[in-house]
Amino acid sequence: MNGDRFTRAWVRPVRLWCGLILFTYLVTHFSNHALGLVSLKTMEAGRIWFLALWRNPIGETALFGALLAHWLLGLWLIYRRRTLRMPAWEALQIVFGLAVPPLLAYHLAGTRLANALYGTEDLYARTILGMVQDPWQNARTSSMFLIAWIHGCIGLHFWLRLRPWYPSLFPIVLIGFVLLPVLGALGVSMGAREVAAMVAQDPGFAKRLLAETHSPVGSQRAQLTDIRDAVFWTTWALLALTLAARGLRDLILRSSRVRVRYFDGTEVLIHPGWSVLDASRHAGIPHASVCGGRGRCSTCRIRVAGDPDLLPRPKPLERRVLERIGAPPNVRLACQLRPQNDVMVTPLLPPSVRAHSAHASPGSRSGGHEREIAVLFADLRGFTTIAEKKLPYDVVFILNRYFEAVGSAVALAGGIANQYTGDGVMALFGVEDEPGIACRKALVAAGAMVNRVTELGRALSGELESPFRIGIGIHTGSVVVGEMGYGETRYLTAVGDTVNTASRLEGLTKDHDCELVVSELVLARAGLDPGDYRRAELAIRNRDAPLRVILIEDAQKLAVRAAALSSRSPDSPDRASAAVPVN
Ligand code: FES
Repeated sequence: MNGDRFTRAWVRPVRLWCGLILFTYLVTHFSNHALGLVSLKTMEAGRIWFLALWRNPIGETALFGALLAHWLLGLWLIYRRRTLRMPAWEALQIVFGLAVPPLLAYHLAGTRLANALYGTEDLYARTILGMVQDPWQNARTSSMFLIAWIHGCIGLHFWLRLRPWYPSLFPIVLIGFVLLPVLGALGVSMGAREVAAMVAQDPGFAKRLLAETHSPVGSQRAQLTDIRDAVFWTTWALLALTLAARGLRDLILRSSRVRVRYFDGTEVLIHPGWSVLDASRHAGIPHASVCGGRGRCSTCRIRVAGDPDLLPRPKPLERRVLERIGAPPNVRLACQLRPQNDVMVTPLLPPSVRAHSAHASPGSRSGGHEREIAVLFADLRGFTTIAEKKLPYDVVFILNRYFEAVGSAVALAGGIANQYTGDGVMALFGVEDEPGIACRKALVAAGAMVNRVTELGRALSGELESPFRIGIGIHTGSVVVGEMGYGETRYLTAVGDTVNTASRLEGLTKDHDCELVVSELVLARAGLDPGDYRRAELAIRNRDAPLRVILIEDAQKLAVRAAALSSRSPDSPDRASAAVPVN
């Protein structure tokens, strides 16, 4: 196993799990501190539970093992990095991570180590007394916990931010990130006030407390100081050794260079083994890398000029991501491609790209990508007449309720409602599904839209002269899907004859007085038999034969059949071709 594979397969996962153990420890530690807001006595009582959790053979092995492994693997990752240029958040996390072990040496020597060697009871009262008497100790301990916490929060945030559920939960997570250390600090300061009051009331309190808790004295203190200093300097020595090893490696590799040329003519010389993302960072070229170069987000993707077969083949991790986004052979992940020969590359996403773009296909989001999808158009019947008789504010109110009803129906069915114009809605299905599933989803959405619009009409019956009626058209076929627009107003849409045809099918619902018109192909793709539904034909420009369409009076009934088929086999393309009668 080479170094990169070892790092991916073992170092990063093990380090992550160790980090999670340490983060859990901090959460419990801060929670214990926060009990000081009640009283010092409650803090001490909480400490008993805290120690029961962490000061036992299993808890201590997990804790100290995680601490050691997290730190040593961190040094390994620093050694493995091709360049030390990196985004600010990553630099902050690394610097904070490196600062924790030496600072921790002080805290551990006075607490756990003293306890192990001399039976010192590290009561809150005793630790806080030390902090009250020595402002430096106070500052050191507080900053150590804060630094460790920030290091953990950054790590957790960047680990979770590609999860689809994370953005909606982020505000709550952020409150937790901020609130817990603040409560912990307030708890300790309240405890400090109590200890200071006891010292003021009883001048012998401090001496007695130190004696009763078996605080180290004389040679014991000297021994603890020696151990602490040894740990302190070892941490720095290992870091210096890591940096020296990096320097030596770069010196050895100095003679062989690979040229990475960017689309704007910039050239960067790198060592073989560096990735294109390393090249960008080394040269200070802004390059999107939402996951920090871990091969998880795809935002660093590049188009490589020339023959893709001349490049090193993608390893499984990269291959999986490229397949997931449907990338053509000349698109690669900059963080995973380590060119052995000169290459010319074009980053495909802007450096400012955010996490939500991580799973977008290269074509669909950026330059456009051809694929077969289902396109749905919907229109509210007679809305112009309604609007003419209403005040503009009322029209806006009704339209927003209507868009909410149809938009939520589309989203729930798994589609993307991407355009709202007047009282019309366009929705795409299958941007990430195969066509059979896309068509079934579109039919389910159509039924739900009719249902919701009917309910909305009932709710607004006092405002309307006649009930709401909606007309929907669905067609499937090849389109170019991509982000269009400018700046913040870019949105995903589709272009092609399929879109125009779907819009015309929606228009047919008026002519034939039905809720839904779909092309025969939609039902065929969905695996539904047209049965004895009414049929019609639509002449299409540049097409010899007219398009055969199905006229559906009751969209909800068809939606039930489509949903039933989906629930039997939501992902099986084979099922999509198995005809099921619909009426
Ligand atoms: S930076 Fe995330 S995949 Fe390359």
